[in-house]
Amino acid sequence: MAKVLVIGSGGREHAIVHALSKSKKVNEIYAAPGNAGIAKLAMCVNIKDTDVDSLVEFAKAEKIDLVVVGPEAALAVGVVDKMQASGIKAFGPTKAACQIESSKKFAKDLMKKYNIPTAGYETFDDYDSALAYVKENGFPTVLKYDGLAAGKGVVIANNLEEAQETLKDMLLDDKFGHGKVVIEEYLEGPEFSFMCFCDNENIYPLEMAQDHKRAYDNDMGPNTGGMGAYSPLPFITKDDYEYALNEIMIPTAKAMVKENTPFKGVLYGGLMKTKDGIKVIEFNSRFGDPETEVVLPRLTSDIYDAFNAIVDGAKPVLTWEDCYTIGIVLASKGYPGSYQKGFVIKNADSDDIYHMGTKIDDNGNLVTNGGRVLFAVAKGKTLEEANRKANMLVNEIECENLFHRTDIGAKAYKK
Ligand code: AMP
Ligand code: GLY
Repeated sequence: MAKVLVIGSGGREHAIVHALSKSKKVNEIYAAPGNAGIAKLAMCVNIKDTDVDSLVEFAKAEKIDLVVVGPEAALAVGVVDKMQASGIKAFGPTKAACQIESSKKFAKDLMKKYNIPTAGYETFDDYDSALAYVKENGFPTVLKYDGLAAGKGVVIANNLEEAQETLKDMLLDDKFGHGKVVIEEYLEGPEFSFMCFCDNENIYPLEMAQDHKRAYDNDMGPNTGGMGAYSPLPFITKDDYEYALNEIMIPTAKAMVKENTPFKGVLYGGLMKTKDGIKVIEFNSRFGDPETEVVLPRLTSDIYDAFNAIVDGAKPVLTWEDCYTIGIVLASKGYPGSYQKGFVIKNADSDDIYHMGTKIDDNGNLVTNGGRVLFAVAKGKTLEEANRKANMLVNEIECENLFHRTDIGAKAYKK
């Protein structure tokens, strides 16, 4: 029987822990640092997800058989490299491979070199040249800070004023740190998330999902980490799937090997179906959040075996329940801007509610502890059924400081 350590504290990690808890081969699950929902399935240990030395020490002391890493921040500081150097099996890419997410320039240069379809772009480190380029190419234009910026490093500028302000933040005032800016051609079309297990040049697709990034209904309001998701995707045809797999994901895995940054873990294609074909918006080097919370509940094969297969260089078995899932985020009022924490939550005990940002307070109450707080997910034979059930779960939850979108998946089921 195996002992597994999951690193992270969000809904994604709750879904991973939940999937691991169904494996007959796993008998002990630890989470660092975990959250109040994860604590029902795993032993939470109070170590920060980027405190690599303490994580390695813990894994060694507990003789952990497998470490699974959720967040990009932990990957970007090399937690997988250090675990492996200490002889501990870890699922996730190395720090070098993780650059496909942590550096926009690395990802764009890779795509250009290997002819992987994406928006046209140029990279700048000086304000005047960046501004001149923007003026020449017109609006809207997409400005991306070249580094991890917690989802806030991408701005779509609709006019010169917005572009000037953003470039000033990114290049003159170093608001996200001292770095470069990638300026991209603006693309239009539905976005979707294609997460694949990747073992060097081999790609093993998971089921597709779509995130809803804007804060409010009808895709209004600011960009967030994601306000809801559903899976699978009726608007993706068999040809779309084949194209995304054979022209994007497999060539990218092969390119990573050629560049001496072989990738093992979840390679996440953030893709867009434009009128000129499917193109890459971004790559992530990890499971998506909240996509994972609608995809893993549909997995019917053993996820512990699948993780081990990838780490060991074997072919994982991945089978899926033939159903739809819809999941709705309950977020703190004010998110993605500033918000308060510590509001009591009641009636959130269902196994179908993943915790994204919760904790137990000093009085033993479950309270809000983040921007995104809970994720209610439901299955159905149709998207309508999944939507109805997900909304029933949401409506049962009592908390005075939460809001949610009411149109997750609606574009796919409302004709
Ligand atoms: P990223 O962090 O690169 O995924 O960008 C965040 C969001 O900005 C994406 O999910 C898109 O909605 C939007 N976006 C990024 N790049 C482009 C682009 N080239 N054209 C249109 N929208 C984009
Ligand atoms: N849901 C978007 C992400 O995980 O980056």
